Amino acid sequence: MAGLLYALWILTFATTYALGIDCNANFTISEESDAKELRENCKIIGGDLTFEGNISENINLDGVEEVRGSWSLNPLNSSGKVETLFNISSSTLKLVDGLFYHRGPSGLERLVLPNLGNISGPAYFDSMANVTHIDFTNLVSIASLDLQTPRLQEFKINELKGFTGNFSDRIFISDGGSVESLDGLFKGPIAPANGYLLPAITIQKIPNIKQVTLGWKHIQRAHISGQLWYQHWSPPPNITLVLGGPDSETVHINELEIREGVIGIERGSKTSNLSIGSFKSMNDMITDLRLPFHQVSEVAIRGDRMTSLELPKEAEEWNNVSISIWLVRSLHLESSVNSEGRQTWHWPNQNMSNFYILGDVSTNFLRNDENNTKLQYHFIASAPGLWGVYRDEGSAPRGL
Ligand SMILES: *[C@@H]1O[C@H](CO)[C@@H](O)[C@H](O)[C@H]1NC(C)=O
Ligand SMILES: *[C@@H]1O[C@H](CO)[C@@H](O)[C@H](O)[C@H]1NC(C)=O
Ligand SMILES: *[C@@H]1O[C@H](CO)[C@@H](O)[C@H](O)[C@H]1NC(C)=O
Ligand SMILES: *[C@@H]1O[C@H](CO)[C@@H](O)[C@H](O)[C@H]1NC(C)=O
Ligand SMILES: *[C@@H]1O[C@H](CO)[C@@H](O)[C@H](O)[C@H]1NC(C)=O
Ligand SMILES: *[C@@H]1O[C@H](CO)[C@@H](O)[C@H](O)[C@H]1NC(C)=O
Ligand SMILES: *[C@@H]1O[C@H](CO)[C@@H](O)[C@H](O)[C@H]1NC(C)=O
Ligand SMILES: *[C@@H]1O[C@H](CO)[C@@H](O)[C@H](O)[C@H]1NC(C)=O
Ligand SMILES: *[C@@H]1O[C@H](CO)[C@@H](O)[C@H](O)[C@H]1NC(C)=O
Ligand SMILES: *[C@@H]1O[C@H](CO)[C@@H](O)[C@H](O)[C@H]1NC(C)=O
Ligand SMILES: *[C@@H]1O[C@H](CO)[C@@H](O)[C@H](O)[C@H]1NC(C)=O
Ligand SMILES: *[C@@H]1O[C@H](CO)[C@@H](O)[C@H](O)[C@H]1NC(C)=O
Repeated sequence: MAGLLYALWILTFATTYALGIDCNANFTISEESDAKELRENCKIIGGDLTFEGNISENINLDGVEEVRGSWSLNPLNSSGKVETLFNISSSTLKLVDGLFYHRGPSGLERLVLPNLGNISGPAYFDSMANVTHIDFTNLVSIASLDLQTPRLQEFKINELKGFTGNFSDRIFISDGGSVESLDGLFKGPIAPANGYLLPAITIQKIPNIKQVTLGWKHIQRAHISGQLWYQHWSPPPNITLVLGGPDSETVHINELEIREGVIGIERGSKTSNLSIGSFKSMNDMITDLRLPFHQVSEVAIRGDRMTSLELPKEAEEWNNVSISIWLVRSLHLESSVNSEGRQTWHWPNQNMSNFYILGDVSTNFLRNDENNTKLQYHFIASAPGLWGVYRDEGSAPRGL
């Protein structure tokens, strides 16, 4: 036993000090030979690891398992003109116990870290215009992620499982390039790391994604749009937002906002409790919208091309909801039953805190509700053919 321990000690000693390298130091990599020295000598890097300079060779860190400090890739000096591309890979790296920062301009093309499981600090990809592939296949936890990667083609991740805490948990995608799926980031039933600091999601540009599946348990804010609001020259994507991942029973979002590019909302197949605080659809491209929420407190909808709006059966249970609908010039609310005889509008059976529609609403549509004594609003015409409707607390329900 003592012999074995001694052998181990020799081995450890040899690995750490053979070339006189102190693995607890900070390291800078600007060429492949710097990486070679590290991978041959250090399983664990105790300090920070920095990539900088005019890197023109692929960097391989097979052998390194942990970086205890931060990992950062600095932008090119001088003109910032990227002339050569390079990859960084490690099949052994499991943990970066600090900040994980990449800032362009930089020639990084592929970042391949398939066994990286945890990143304790925030992960940034800022102005990383040349990145095409990020492989985080086995990543399970991060503190936050920012992606600004206009050429990204693939973001590989099986399933994110949680946040590391002590940071504001968030995923902010300002440019997702041409990736076709990001579900690995969003589908898991992730619970907040901090009860008091709920995670937030912002997605602004994901032109090639057809479906976003959001499975996190409790989200402070989710703002989802397929393209930036000013990019009217390119056709927006057609994204279906699925609220509830394959393993999510409960999804609660305090503030959900959808914009251009989102064409519909569905509920996850296993999701039996989907509750939303405030829901906003400020989306002049959407044509049909159905609100599959079990509960919602506030609904605000503006949609110049909207031709149908459905309140499903669950809406009967919406309690104290405030509903506001305006700038819906293509929407004609004539009846709560559509032309195929299906009921597409269920009035809440509970009190509503506010009800307002500025649009083309027929008296017939409103009369469908006239016998519901629980509703305490009445209807006011604002102009011929254009009806404004609002609740007037305390008065009995009336038709026009
Ligand atoms: C590594 O760099 C950081 C930040 O500059 C510094 O705080 C730390 O002391 C350095 N560590 C070592 C081992 O030199
Ligand atoms: C980049 O600029 C910094 C400071 O301006 C300098 O210290 C560093 O040596 C430069 N790196 C290269 C590779 O030119
Ligand atoms: C960067 O490296 C490439 C290839 O080694 C070389 O062609 C280029 O001139 C270098 N650029 C700078 C700014 O040093
Ligand atoms: C990066 O890796 C990919 C895939 O292995 C390869 O096709 C590409 O040529 C590499 N890039 C560079 C600059 O070597
Ligand atoms: C990685 O994160 C997971 C989930 O948050 C945690 O269970 C695990 O202990 C972490 N592993 C390391 C090496 O920090
Ligand atoms: C890196 O990206 C920039 C900005 O899109 C582009 O101008 C440059 O040509 C790219 N560099 C290479 C070597 O592909
Ligand atoms: C979070 O912060 C607390 C106190 O500031 C500290 O005790 C704890 O270790 C930190 N947790 C993590 C995951 O960094
Ligand atoms: C989205 O759907 C509309 C209508 O079907 C279509 O005209 C448009 O080209 C689609 N957009 C994309 C990016 O495929
Ligand atoms: C649904 O989830 C919300 C928020 O998590 C909770 O307050 C509510 O009690 C749940 N409703 C049901 C029916 O389980
Ligand atoms: C109903 O909602 C309004 C605001 O939306 C709020 O001010 C009021 O307190 C709520 N009433 C109840 C009974 O929850
Ligand atoms: C609706 O509100 C009225 C007073 O505003 C209250 O008396 C009544 O109990 C409420 N009904 C329900 C179902 O909450
Ligand atoms: C409301 O009640 C009246 C009288 O009972 C009935 O004639 C009418 O059909 C009812 N309206 C609806 C929409 O159910």
